[in-house]
Amino acid sequence: MYSNASIWTTERLESLVNPLTARMMNEPGEWDPPAGIEPKRETLFLSVGIPDSGALPRGELNAAMQNVLTENGDASLRYGFGAGYFPLRAAITARYREIHGADVAEDWLQLTNGSSGAIDLLVRSFIEPGDVIVSESPAYMGSLRNFRGVGARIVSVPIDADGLATDRLAATLARLTTEGARVKFIYTISSFQNPTGATLSLPRRRALLELAARHGCLILDDEAYSELHYDSTPLPSLLTLSGGYGVVSVGSFSKTIATGLRIGWIMARPELLKTIARMRFDMGQNQMALRMMARFLESGAFAPHVAGVRALYRAKMETLADALERECGDLVSFTRPRGGFYLWVRLADGLTARDVWRAAAHEGVAVNPGDGFRTDPSDAGELLRIAFAWTPRDQIDEAAHRIGVAVRRARDGDVP
Ligand SMILES: Cc1ncc(COP(=O)(O)O)c(C=O)c1O
Repeated sequence: MYSNASIWTTERLESLVNPLTARMMNEPGEWDPPAGIEPKRETLFLSVGIPDSGALPRGELNAAMQNVLTENGDASLRYGFGAGYFPLRAAITARYREIHGADVAEDWLQLTNGSSGAIDLLVRSFIEPGDVIVSESPAYMGSLRNFRGVGARIVSVPIDADGLATDRLAATLARLTTEGARVKFIYTISSFQNPTGATLSLPRRRALLELAARHGCLILDDEAYSELHYDSTPLPSLLTLSGGYGVVSVGSFSKTIATGLRIGWIMARPELLKTIARMRFDMGQNQMALRMMARFLESGAFAPHVAGVRALYRAKMETLADALERECGDLVSFTRPRGGFYLWVRLADGLTARDVWRAAAHEGVAVNPGDGFRTDPSDAGELLRIAFAWTPRDQIDEAAHRIGVAVRRARDGDVP
């Protein structure tokens, strides 16, 4: 150690980072468990948006990876520049064409490090501090954090069972125009939204496109969960309805296959992708993973896999919803989602999500209080997100039982 090493305290570092980083350093982490609570028993986690561990297609991924590593040449172990491995872009766009009938081709796709990487690249390319991003609220907290991290001003518009409330959006955009605000993006998670499970209805999809075009702002559609519909034929995507004009879609294999892959993408008209090409500084993505995924898709393994997980998540959701109705149906209400990973639960009057969250942690079950997903955290005090995808199916009844106990403890004022 050298003599002056002790100057490197956190305070010293804080004086060097930029003001945005300093502000974010001091924000509480949304994922922190409630402070000072010792669970009574081993915790069951219904607080993470991760696919079921037992349903990971390990065998098929292993075969695909073997294939990649025994290929001639060293391409899978070298940098891969540009928009990303062409056969994977071809396979992703072919699937999107097949599902949505959208006229997309390989040059509509930029591969990224997860959809988080996609959103990060877009906001770094488009947003200056003070620019407005209109976001549905509640919304995925990771994206909200990313928006704050580039200094965007987030203006929220509420969401209901039919998704983003477009009548409220119209009023908000009109007000922002009068103020002279620069609105760059409207952020929506159009299908099986995180955290509410809601899907934007077809009339609202059309209304959203009209409004965005009228105000000259891009729609950023986060399609992380779009493939995970339980029953219905999926609605036409915003990208399809618009021909890609004014719409950027981001997608990912995190929710359909595995979060550790870190494979996502931006899908947009080629002229839009061109604008951000010079803002990629990551030297490409993991070439082995991209090639493995291309082989996986080419083998035909994706469609049966995704059909299997849709059925699994539907069964888990029904199990959870039935059990919650049994355990505490008098104190909670919810709409059963038609896809995705989340049940959005409203607590009876007088109960707060933070109290239930604390009691639940003590009972050994982790859930998320809804206020963490709002741009204005004073809101949503009576809503909980329960994420069921990762929890083993045979633990869901027990988890719902513990949640029921926690809700009654909160009602009785017995909060640790
Ligand atoms: C709506 C939404 N978008 C994006 C992400 C990030 O996913 P990825 O692993 O693709 O970066 C998540 C993860 O929870 C999410 O819920």
